[in-house]
Amino acid sequence: MAKKSRKLRVIVLHGPNLNFLGKRDQAVYGSKTLDSINKSIEEHAAALGIEVATYQSNSEGSLVDFIQAEASGSGAIVINPGALTHYGLSLRDALQDTGLPVIEVHLSNIYAREQWRATSVIAPIARGQISGLGWRGYVAALDILAAD
Ligand code: DQA
Repeated sequence: MAKKSRKLRVIVLHGPNLNFLGKRDQAVYGSKTLDSINKSIEEHAAALGIEVATYQSNSEGSLVDFIQAEASGSGAIVINPGALTHYGLSLRDALQDTGLPVIEVHLSNIYAREQWRATSVIAPIARGQISGLGWRGYVAALDILAAD
């Protein structure tokens, strides 16, 4: 059987306002800060033998720049696009242009909130979506990618 030759590298992206986790409504988004979530992601990735590159920006253009710069050396993307989920078409195009599998993660259940949150422009180009399972959604996404 062929052995996997290279370590899987996964880009983990966080969109607008996710740098304020811990200060945002904890009943909706949980109490963990973004640093703490990233630490959990990094620890879990290390246990799975996955390399991760985490990045947060409040700007759609910066997220697009990061994706364009980092995609070629990576095997998959995990993204919580924040509110860009609902209208970020240049982010969607950048993700699709990579040709990489994308897993969309939301801390809250976007289908159980305001009507406008139930539409994701990212979902049609994503391999799948995890919504409403809090920070563990990121960890679950890594488990799924590691099992591929
Ligand atoms: C979110 C849901 C979005 O609707 C919202 O704009 C966010 C966070 C989530 O993780 O639940 O900023 O992506």
